[in-house]
Amino acid sequence: MTAPVDINLTVNGETVAESVEPRTTLVDFLRETLGLTGSHVGCEHGFCGACTVLLDGTIVRGCLTLAVQCEGAQVETIEGASDSGAISDLQEAFRRRNALQCGFCTPGMLLTAQELLARGGVPNRDTIREHLAGNYCRCTGYQAIVDAVESVAQERARKG
Ligand code: FES
Ligand code: FES
Repeated sequence: MTAPVDINLTVNGETVAESVEPRTTLVDFLRETLGLTGSHVGCEHGFCGACTVLLDGTIVRGCLTLAVQCEGAQVETIEGASDSGAISDLQEAFRRRNALQCGFCTPGMLLTAQELLARGGVPNRDTIREHLAGNYCRCTGYQAIVDAVESVAQERARKG
């Protein structure tokens, strides 16, 4: 058995110091050690996007990232993005447009959409689809998700 490694990072603005097995993935660390279960585990092979989180502002697969790789990093999960209010308009648009059904893909979708919208401007539907292409949804057929993201992009642009 490999010896645990001490890691220090920031998760949703809070300093975290923990000891982890070197092979622990970031999503397992978030869910099992920190109790942040909003990040989901689907394929565990980098295909579905259910485990998406932000690492230093960029979306990553939590199942392909090791917790030890996050030493000194800033991690943001769906809980942080939700609590800060940063994605409240996206969450509301997803609800209004029925862009979620079972909700399994939704945390990853929201963080991925937020990363795109944070670039500013109003991306066209193809760009939205392309950006969300790594996040699988088995329920909605994607149309409503693209509608929701597009409407928030337009609304944010209107508000400046
Ligand atoms: S669980 Fe990570 S991409 Fe599917
Ligand atoms: S809402 Fe069920 S997988 Fe997307």
